[in-house]
Amino acid sequence: MGTRGREIIGLEVDELLKLLNKAFADEWLAYYQYWVGAKVAKGPMKDAIIAELTLHATEELGHADLVSNRIIQLGGTPLTTPKEWFNWTNCGYDAPDDPYVGTLLEQNIKAEQCAISVYDSLMKLTDGKDPVTYNIALQIIEQEVEHEEDLQSLLEDLELMLHPPMR
Ligand SMILES: [Fe+2]
Ligand SMILES: [Fe+2]
Repeated sequence: MGTRGREIIGLEVDELLKLLNKAFADEWLAYYQYWVGAKVAKGPMKDAIIAELTLHATEELGHADLVSNRIIQLGGTPLTTPKEWFNWTNCGYDAPDDPYVGTLLEQNIKAEQCAISVYDSLMKLTDGKDPVTYNIALQIIEQEVEHEEDLQSLLEDLELMLHPPMR
């Protein structure tokens, strides 16, 4: 990367690259968890839930793109094989083996909550030390927070539909 761009970083760049590659692994796993979940989903409100899962999948891939561009800018290499995703991930992977929409929502809410914590730590670490990474983490966390809320509100609607409040 540009040498001055690297010099201004008040952090151990190799350590930062490790954290970025961990987030990169999370994004790909999140992408696939959403993507395949949207394919297999079954149950009430399926259409609305599939639409949301599919949109989120696209956005997770966008995050992988942002993170990998920063890794390259810092002189690193994004993980080159999917096999490594499981060794590097912070948030893991929940296979949608139970295709019920409620279960899928719960699994993806858990993943979003983990992603929020990951970018929150990355922001705390880079605050005042690496404005470029900080800004990328900020852009991503804004979407992760939105994702969590989208899924929680779908889950709430699903519960209300299945168990309408007594009148
Ligand atoms: Fe993401
Ligand atoms: Fe997300």
